[in-house]
Amino acid sequence: MDLIVAADRAGLVKARDALGPGRIALVPTMGALHEGHRSLIRLAREHADHVVVSVFVNPLQFGPGEDFSRYPRTFDADLRTCEEEGVGVVFAPSADDMYLPDRQVEVSAGGMGGVVEGAFRPGHFDGVLTVVLKLFNLVRPDLAVFGQKDAQQLALIRRMVADLDVPVSVVGAPTVREPDGLALSSRNRYLSEADRRTALALSRALRAGAARAGTAGPAGILDAARAVLEEAARFDPPLLLDYLILADPATFGPVGDDHRGEAILAVAAKVGTTRLIDNMVLTL
Ligand code: PAF
Repeated sequence: MDLIVAADRAGLVKARDALGPGRIALVPTMGALHEGHRSLIRLAREHADHVVVSVFVNPLQFGPGEDFSRYPRTFDADLRTCEEEGVGVVFAPSADDMYLPDRQVEVSAGGMGGVVEGAFRPGHFDGVLTVVLKLFNLVRPDLAVFGQKDAQQLALIRRMVADLDVPVSVVGAPTVREPDGLALSSRNRYLSEADRRTALALSRALRAGAARAGTAGPAGILDAARAVLEEAARFDPPLLLDYLILADPATFGPVGDDHRGEAILAVAAKVGTTRLIDNMVLTL
């Protein structure tokens, strides 16, 4: 079946009905699709008969001074990617179509939305959850696939689905990395060569922390990761650390010394004008 492009909510309803019977998987994106998105789409295809990809740069999740206006928009290339990956429908609404001019109600991400990444980006996760819930209601998928790269986002979406009884299964997909370790991100295209060299410290720090997971407690893991980040703070351009945390995946609070099981070693930093995040799931 040819790829159907739905440019508004009314078009989406028609396109969804045209898909016919079978399970539907949604892959929400903000476009600028890369190999990481391809892996989400492939995972979606393993779980469903039809894949819907949304391409929408959601203004609600960008704060003042963030990169909403310069966020990469590569719609023609995104459509080619979706065609190559066997996507059934691309839903690419405008902001005016997505949000009613007199809208009032938003999803609140609660306390877990205000810590770690949320402490640096107030309101960000409210904006993410609001658009994701709208996409769930519009597409009515059986399941939706999100990358582990945005670990707190994935945890909050799982929380929203549980707390609000949303009838969608959430599937997490592993982070895809460049051969040198850099996690794929649409924002990587902002990086100069020098920025990129500094940016590699993020994944190096996570690996250094992960290497201590079998033998050290949270403090030892964080010390190993922090040493790499401190070295990169002296590079040109320097790495400017926002946070490094070993977080409980259920709450995103810092893990205690007695924590056992999975923990997320998460980092965010600015390199040049670009802000990057990365994480690894460790077992303590
Ligand atoms: O991860 C993203 O690209 C966005 O936060 C999402 C989930 C598409 C919501 O706008």
